[in-house]
Amino acid sequence: MLDLVTVILAAGKGTRMKSKLPKVLHKAAGKPMLQHVLDAAKAAGAKRNIVVVGFGGDVVKEAMGDQAEFVFQTEQLGTGHAVMQAAPLLKDEKGTVMVLCGDTPLVTGDLIAKLYEGHKAAGAKATVLTAIMPDSTGYGRILRTETGEVAGIVEQKDATEEQRQIKEVNSGIYCFDSQELFQALEQVGCDNAQGEYYLPDVLGILREQGKKIWAVAADDYESTLGINSRVQLAGAEKILRRRKNIELMDNGVTLMDPDSTFVDADVEVGPDTVIYPFTWLEGKTKIGANCQIGPNTRFSDTVIGNEVVAQFTYGHECVVDDGVTMGPYVHLRPNTHLSTKVKIGNFVEVKNSNIGVGSKLPHLSYIGDTDMGSGVNMGCGTITVNYDGKTKFRTTIGNDAFVGCNTNLVAPVTVGDGSYIGAGSTITKDVPASDLAIGRARQKNITGWADKRK
Ligand code: UD1
Ligand code: CA
Repeated sequence: MLDLVTVILAAGKGTRMKSKLPKVLHKAAGKPMLQHVLDAAKAAGAKRNIVVVGFGGDVVKEAMGDQAEFVFQTEQLGTGHAVMQAAPLLKDEKGTVMVLCGDTPLVTGDLIAKLYEGHKAAGAKATVLTAIMPDSTGYGRILRTETGEVAGIVEQKDATEEQRQIKEVNSGIYCFDSQELFQALEQVGCDNAQGEYYLPDVLGILREQGKKIWAVAADDYESTLGINSRVQLAGAEKILRRRKNIELMDNGVTLMDPDSTFVDADVEVGPDTVIYPFTWLEGKTKIGANCQIGPNTRFSDTVIGNEVVAQFTYGHECVVDDGVTMGPYVHLRPNTHLSTKVKIGNFVEVKNSNIGVGSKLPHLSYIGDTDMGSGVNMGCGTITVNYDGKTKFRTTIGNDAFVGCNTNLVAPVTVGDGSYIGAGSTITKDVPASDLAIGRARQKNITGWADKRK
């Protein structure tokens, strides 16, 4: 753990997003931008994280839960004013405070650690993380003296034409000596183009006071990109997904076509799994080793074991054990657990059900609210009738039951171990173990009927 407190600025409305949702809650690679920043701070080993919220503050706080401390900035008077709001929480803090922005989802733990170490090694009172941007429009520019020392930062709107040519920009991420930060902030004014209290002014103020200010340059500008619009958000999304795909491939996962594989930041995939094109893996999904996933498959918050084969499948909030095969055209709905070696064939939907080891649902079934044992064979077209228009009921099916094609199991109902059900039955009563149940009209043949009709 580092002797480091972060203050993450997230009070702005994000006007350019044109959204009711606070900007920092917009997602990139499946999680809010602010969550990416918090995760990077945690990965670097920050001991405390304070988030400054304002616009939609309650919503942001609610979304982040107890992952950080929160302070409110009721009026958004600028980044310097925003940091000031954290002063009461940091009165006794003697160490380093790092200021980050909640709208930089590409920042990494390594970069945060690098900035902290650079700041410490320089013995500076303030250190800014800079980047060389291909297009520096909108960013604050880094001003340097003839000898290369950092002299201060000028905002785009306050910059001269000459200053606007500077490609080295302020990433919006800084390290400060805590005590120096808050004494300097007291002196920041708002006499500038935007009438705001600018945090970057702290650097110039400290320099005037003869204190050491420093800069650390990011190796790549991408990690420091600030997101102000949906176009920029889409750009960040692309970069995050590319990073994730590289991470997976480096860990032994085959991606047939990285360009059509969409994996959220926190997803895990085991080695020797092959992912076919047009696959989405979302949220907290985990996939084991040696699986074949896709094409055209989407899993959200689903945990999948080893050696699973899934094609043209959508599963959400499910657990799938080793050796299961599914698809094409399968829908697994929440609270479904498929045990080892289950086989789910074409056009099958399973909801809120437990399917036992090796059971088969090969074709055209709806199984809802069901507890199924092992070794069961469900004939083609078999469905559970789980809903009477008001209440959902459960179906229980014992081990090794054989359910004939096109059966309706009207819940609540129990089908015993080793029992058989004749094809086309509508089962409304429990079937005892080892019995044969037939619940359909008996067939009647009328001899010569067609000839007589002529
Ligand atoms: C800021 C920097 C700029 C830098 C850029 C990097 C200032 C004055 N400028 O500009 O030098 O190059 O970031 O991305 O700091 N916020 C608050 N309260 C406020 C104002 C802003 O919490 O009163 C938050 C925003 O929610 C956002 C962050 O601070 O997360 C940055 O604000 P933003 O308005 O995006 O600043 P930029 O114009 O991008
Ligand atoms: Ca910004």
